[in-house]
Amino acid sequence: MTRGARRGARGEFFVTEKSGELFHGHFGGSRMSQPRALLVGTGISVPPLVVDNTMLARIIDTNDEWIRTRSGIVSRRYVEPGVSSSQLGTEAARAALADAGVETSEVDYLVCATMTPDYYFPGAGTLIQQQLGLSPLPALDIRQQCAGFAYGMQMVDALIRSGIAKTVLLVGADVHTSVMPFSEATWDCLYGRSSEPLDEEIFAWNSRFRHLLVLFGDGAGAMVFKAHDKDDGRGILSSALYGDGENCEILYVPGGGSLNRPWVTAEMIAEGVTVPVMKGRSVFKLAVTRMPQVTREILANNGYTLDDLDLLIMHQANLRINEAAQKQLGLPAERVHNNIQKYGNTTSATLPLCFHEAKQAGKAPEGSLVAFTALGAGLHWGSVLMRI
Ligand code: UT7
Repeated sequence: MTRGARRGARGEFFVTEKSGELFHGHFGGSRMSQPRALLVGTGISVPPLVVDNTMLARIIDTNDEWIRTRSGIVSRRYVEPGVSSSQLGTEAARAALADAGVETSEVDYLVCATMTPDYYFPGAGTLIQQQLGLSPLPALDIRQQCAGFAYGMQMVDALIRSGIAKTVLLVGADVHTSVMPFSEATWDCLYGRSSEPLDEEIFAWNSRFRHLLVLFGDGAGAMVFKAHDKDDGRGILSSALYGDGENCEILYVPGGGSLNRPWVTAEMIAEGVTVPVMKGRSVFKLAVTRMPQVTREILANNGYTLDDLDLLIMHQANLRINEAAQKQLGLPAERVHNNIQKYGNTTSATLPLCFHEAKQAGKAPEGSLVAFTALGAGLHWGSVLMRI
């Protein structure tokens, strides 16, 4: 048993969470408990192409030192043109199903979180279902950006507790290179396919978005959950999620939506309004306060303290955000895991990608108590607590 896990007299994990009790109902005089969503497999997919900070300095007015100091990022992965979020998501899902030893025929619900779907519509859920060869099933897309996977976990919890689903596939996938405003000449220069230096005007255009572009990468992660009937305290325990449009404009894409008619024009692209707007400092301040706050909240809601927590997986937007949050929570390094250094911010994919690697590093054995927390555009933020 890992530190923080509590066992009862019969050796089961002791369920102390208040919200857990909400889900134990009395029907016809006999006590019935609802199943919990047990994590049975994880998988990831990252494209093979590694783009380091020095490569970015070929096309943007930036440098390795600035990027490392301000964000902790050393490299990120980019897809080749033609590779979409649904394709990365499908690969991650395949890996997660194999890890779980779950057949595609067992999956009865699919939830996909992405802010970069293959098309304006439909979302990526049915595309993943089709590429995986799953029979028709409910395939839901959610778009809560960086908090998308946490919202997805709450959805999985509700679907399984309610009995609507028994085996749920949750996928987070994003292809950020699709929203990067780079010309062909820029891509050629980035990859060293052209020996010509980049035209000054193009270099200046790329650099306009430098605070943003250096942070993001492409990737996907997936988790498989199964209904778990044993009263051993394992599974998703509960979640605390928030959404508030008050700060929408500190992180959003102004062009390319139904507020505009037509929804996108050549002028919008030329003006750069189809590129996300990000007021980095404002997002930073909110992330370092709200992620620790909601993590404390989810632990307290379940009758735990930070001492009980074995592992905290935070959204990977900036290593400095996560270091500040870790410090506020007083958690030692071995009880957090970060991999933004290798992948940058992959939005919906950060939580599963980071958890998968933490698990591989032996940080999340069976019985450990793990909190997942994220904040992103919307704003949306929250935490989910899980007993592995
Ligand atoms: O998933 C949620 C999404 N986003 C986030 O969580 C982002 C949160 N915020 C951040 O991570 C940080 O605010 C950034 C990394 C985006 C920026 O760091 P910062 O320390 O807040 O820098 P800043 O934007 O205040 O810019 C400082 C300086 C500016 O130059 P001057 O005005 O001081 O001369 C920028 O122009 O750094 C300059 N700068 C850069 N220099 C080199 C901005 N981006 C770059 C760059 N390379 N890539």
